This record gives sequence, C-alpha cells and structure tokens, in this order.
Amino acid sequence: MSAHPTEPSIRWDSGAIIAIDQRVLPHDYRTLRIETVDELITAIRELAVRGAPLIGLAGGLGVALSAHRHRSPDGAVDETAVRSEAARLATARPTAANLVWGVERVLRRLAEGPEAVLAEAQAMIDEDTGANRAAARRAADLLDELLPGRRLRVLTHCNSGRLATATTGTALGAILELHARGRVTEVFADETRPLLQGARLTTWELAEAGVPHRLCVDSAAAFAISRGLVDCVLVGADRIAANGDTANKIGTYAVALAAARAAIPFVVVAPESTWDPGLADGTGIVIEERPAAEVTAFAGTPAAPEGTRAYNPAFDVTPADLITAVVTETRVFRPAAARRPQKT
Ligand code: MRU
Repeated sequence: MSAHPTEPSIRWDSGAIIAIDQRVLPHDYRTLRIETVDELITAIRELAVRGAPLIGLAGGLGVALSAHRHRSPDGAVDETAVRSEAARLATARPTAANLVWGVERVLRRLAEGPEAVLAEAQAMIDEDTGANRAAARRAADLLDELLPGRRLRVLTHCNSGRLATATTGTALGAILELHARGRVTEVFADETRPLLQGARLTTWELAEAGVPHRLCVDSAAAFAISRGLVDCVLVGADRIAANGDTANKIGTYAVALAAARAAIPFVVVAPESTWDPGLADGTGIVIEERPAAEVTAFAGTPAAPEGTRAYNPAFDVTPADLITAVVTETRVFRPAAARRPQKT
C-alpha cells in the first residue's frame, strides 16, 4: 500500500491524470500517473480505470490532457489533433454512456483553450460527487418507502462504489447510506466473473466502511434470493435506454430475473449521465465483448483446454419490466411495466 485510501479515484495533477490502479486491488494500492491519451485508453481497456461514471470523468480529463499536450508556446491549441485523440478515447470501451458524454461535454470548451477544457473536466468531477450523493440518498429513501421499518439484507453485483466514481458510489453509495441509517444487516457481494470486481473491489470498499458482508459466486445469487436471504437488490448501470432498459455488468440480468421471481425490489442507481435518451430501448445498446483469455484462464493460469473458444460479453441488458426503479440525482423513474406486486 503506497497511497491514501480516501483519495479521489481520479484527479488532475500538473499536466497528468492520477488514478487509482484498480487492477491490483485489494492486494496492492497504487496510483497511475497518466501522461498521454494512449496511456489513458490502455488504462480504460485494461480496467485500471473502470466503472461507468469514472470513465466519463476520465474522458473529460483525457480531453484536457490532449489539449495541454497539443498547445503551442503561443497558447494556441491544435484542435484537429485534440479532436482526433478525443474520438479514439470516446470509443475505448463502447457500452458505458458516460464515456462519450464526458468527452463531448469537455470538447465543447475546446475553442476557449486548454484551461477552459480543464475547468470543465474539474467541474464534472465536483458534480459527480454531489450527483451520486443525491442519488444514493434518494435510493435509500426509496428503500425506506418500499421496505419500511426493518433492517435489510442487500445483494449487489460488480462494483458501483467510490472506486467506480470520483468519491461517492452509486448503488454501493446507496448501500453505505442505508448502513449509515442503521438499515443494513448484511450485504451479499457477487464475485462478478470473470474479472472479480465484486470480490476484489466491492468487498474492499465494504470492509473499509465497516459494513457486514459475505462474498458469493455469481451463480449463488439466484439461490440466495430464492431462499429468502435477500430483501432487495441494488446495482449500478452503464447505459440506460429511454424506456429504462439497463446495461450493467454481465450477470445483472440473471439477478433481476431471480429478484422478479421472488418479488423483491430490484433498484438501479446511476447518475443522469448514464441515460441514453436517443435509444428507445435496450436492443440498440452495444455490448463490449472482451478477450477469451479472461474466461479460459484464471489469474494467468489456464482453466480450459488450449484453443477453447469463449463467449465473453462484459455487460448484459436488464429489461425495464424487471426493474422496480431507476434512481438518479434528480428523479425516481419507475418503468411502467414493472408495477408488479412486491413482497414487503
Ligand atoms: O467492466 P466494468 O468493471 O467497468 O463494469 C462496471 C459496471 O458494470 C458497474 O456496475 C457500472 O459501471 C456502474 S458503476 C457506478
């Protein structure tokens, strides 16, 4: 461990981006100093910098980095070079809406020069904390309303905590808010195959916050729900279509099916920047497919016969009719089709 566990997941420092390296947690705590857009693209593709809100912020800072590097001594910016790097950055991973959102928002200030671009990226980081805090409170209020007067056993999938945002998580932020209100008995954290964001990162954050938790393999989630061990599910999101269909880490859909069958609330918590109002429904969401080696090997050790082909989508899409509510910093969206009876 070499740095401070409470520092923001990403920040600007004298012409470079400093980010927590999420590949090496929980065994090591390191920060990366990212000095070029290519280094940032690699960090995003390798999930050193990951989580939809965080890669949106990285997109904004990446444009600032590019604008600073392509500034001539007279202060003029080579806009063509910056736009070309921004286009590559925006497509580093295809599923999270936030990445394109972050890049485009900051690019709008390009004509005003590198400092204006950086100011916009910094503003996004500040807003991220406020937005996620508001969404977390709103989600905790919703759970107070849906499941009043008792302590909750909550299941979550992947990592939607502070590591996936600037400082305050989305779904995991809501879980911490519920914990602060004395409402959490325990959290089930899905391990989240194949890259183990739940095992490596969510448990690390829950331990840091002192929240009782148990880790389970992804395929235990439906069984835990069916046995009545879970009162509600809270997850984050990577892209939400206009009707509420939600892309999130692969395995989320299976959890939603189990939650619907058991009639327990399934709540998505995400900032407004995760919505894609241009998509009528989830069928148009581009799902990233990742290398076979993530599935055919485990921590570098082969787990399948050499040459085995793999199916490795990084995300799935949960249809809106399985979602009790999508909670953001400004609203609680209840997909109309999901108004089914829920156990209280
Ligand atoms: O591949 P990852 O680790 O970037 O996937 C992240 C998720 O699916 C998260 O649940 C989502 O981005 C929400 S994070 C607040």
